[in-house]
Amino acid sequence: MPTPHNSASLGDFAQTVLMPGDPLRSKFIAENYLDNPICVNNVRGIQGYTGTYMGKRVSVMASGMGIPSISIYSHELFNFYGVENIIRVGTIGSLSENAKLRDIIISDQAFSEIDFSKYFPAITEESYKPSPVLLSKAITSAHERGLSFVVGPVYSTEFFYGPPELNQKYADKGALGVEMESSALYCNAFLAGKNALTICTVSDSLITGESLSSDERAAGFRAMMELALDIA
Ligand code: HPA
Repeated sequence: MPTPHNSASLGDFAQTVLMPGDPLRSKFIAENYLDNPICVNNVRGIQGYTGTYMGKRVSVMASGMGIPSISIYSHELFNFYGVENIIRVGTIGSLSENAKLRDIIISDQAFSEIDFSKYFPAITEESYKPSPVLLSKAITSAHERGLSFVVGPVYSTEFFYGPPELNQKYADKGALGVEMESSALYCNAFLAGKNALTICTVSDSLITGESLSSDERAAGFRAMMELALDIA
């Protein structure tokens, strides 16, 4: 069962895995939100933990940054470890006046320059969308919690330092923000017949140039985490 990237055994992960990009954030979530967390993977420092949240068994594991990295970890969790749901909890750069710093973006679609159907013929337009069940649970919970959130498409770029025209192309199509993982996560979930959702905190704005300090990022992160744990 262990893979080149994951030393956990079958059964070590819960049905739902929360997936931040940053391994240290995975550790933080495990230590601050989960009861009795056990570290189940630390290959390449991609820390993975399983514990309970309000009596519910939940795991958290980092994705690393970008489409290739999340592709590896989500593929293995869905296809080799029996994981049913992956909820990405990340940060995002705003491409829209409707998504302000600290807002939460709940992604109902992920745009990508990569045409995954070229490599995986089963992929259709619908594959770039989250699980409708997770999406609707997240929207309901965000309303109930009185969070400042927006629902819409995100652009999953391959280039953090890319040409601004590329971000503009997807802003024009309605993307609320730019991040680097969701298209691959959604397509992998589709191919595996599993469920995925991305929830992100707006950490910077490509419109105004503002960005959050690391302390402010941590505070914004708490609301998003509680939302994710609520629907896990
Ligand atoms: N670009 C890509 N990914 C990001 C950004 C960004 O500006 N901000 C947070 N994640």
